[in-house]
Amino acid sequence: MGSLRVFSTLTHDARIFVAGHKGLVGSAIVRRLTSYGFSNLVLKTRAELDLLDQAAVRDFFREEKIDFVFVCAAKVGGILHNSRHQADFIYENLMISANIIQAAALYDVKKLLYLGSSCIYPKFSPQPIPEEALLSGPLEPTNEGYAIAKIAGLKMCEKFYTQYGKCFVSVMPTNMYGPNDNFHPDHSHVIPGMMRRFHEAARGGASSVTVWGTGSPRREFLYSDDFAEAALTVMESYNEPGFLNVGTGEDVTICELAFTMAKVVGFKGEIIFDSSKPDGTPRKVLDVSKVKSLGWEPQISLEVGLRLAYEWALGADAFSLSPESRVVQVPGV
Ligand SMILES: NC(=O)c1ccc[n+]([C@@H]2O[C@H](COP(=O)([O-])OP(=O)(O)OC[C@H]3O[C@@H](n4cnc5c(N)ncnc54)[C@H](OP(=O)(O)O)[C@@H]3O)[C@@H](O)[C@H]2O)c1
Repeated sequence: MGSLRVFSTLTHDARIFVAGHKGLVGSAIVRRLTSYGFSNLVLKTRAELDLLDQAAVRDFFREEKIDFVFVCAAKVGGILHNSRHQADFIYENLMISANIIQAAALYDVKKLLYLGSSCIYPKFSPQPIPEEALLSGPLEPTNEGYAIAKIAGLKMCEKFYTQYGKCFVSVMPTNMYGPNDNFHPDHSHVIPGMMRRFHEAARGGASSVTVWGTGSPRREFLYSDDFAEAALTVMESYNEPGFLNVGTGEDVTICELAFTMAKVVGFKGEIIFDSSKPDGTPRKVLDVSKVKSLGWEPQISLEVGLRLAYEWALGADAFSLSPESRVVQVPGV
């Protein structure tokens, strides 16, 4: 038996493809769909279906008769990894988006939800960032390749909607965290990276943890299960060419995040803010009034979400990669 929620767009016999189902976001969508009783999920690992392979993706859509698609597959990484591998980030993300969106249109997918990212917005956007800020100014150079690919993906959805009447819509999520996050020391986002370093410090009896910057930048974080509920809400009831921001609409300072993290992992030492390191943009938070007008609200507070993510990480032995540094970078400059 699934949880109680009435669906009209997504039907229980529909074939639903969650691309990237092993990742942070895809796995949250699978958990949520499963909890609502959707059982006709089509899930493929990268070894079974490489989304960079256009012919394979077309064959897959032709054979599998997919009704709904959640595009959660992408090449994703933290600031350093992203900035050093911009060619890979633009190429792989363009190919994944183009292959899936075009094949979904060709083989009559009923509705597709594409995932962009809040880094598509110009570096100097108004705060909170409204959807209208897209393409209103230069991008942050360190993740330009990734952002351009994501903008191309959401624009593809919009153009397939307007030219061919395909109901392909997009969401722009803020920073997310939760089970199946990437805890790699170099490739991770701010929360798993910080969690790993505080965990190692707590376990190793370190007297201090150093965090990059002054601690004053403000950032927004959304637990992946809250995002999954938003994704289902958008899939159910957003039917126009375009995209919606998804976040909490609330931001915390990196300092507040660090102290909450220390509490969650049981680190009792000193937290040092290294102000010689760059802070990045002072504030980054999304205007989420449009997605909230569909009836969705996030349910999980930052502290509860961090506890859930930490429990998952301990259970999954996610910190087993060898540590390289105890310095935490601020997210999404
Ligand atoms: N994490 C965030 O904070 C955040 C914020 C905003 C937006 N987003 C967006 O949300 C989406 C999902 O992100 P995520 O954090 O869940 O990433 P993730 O944990 O890295 O998961 C990405 C998934 O995509 C799969 N994938 C990548 N390339 C593939 C390929 N060529 N063929 C088949 N599968 C492939 C990966 O497979 P493997 O397991 O084989 O690598 C993985 O399962 C992305 O579009 C991202 O831009 C994420």
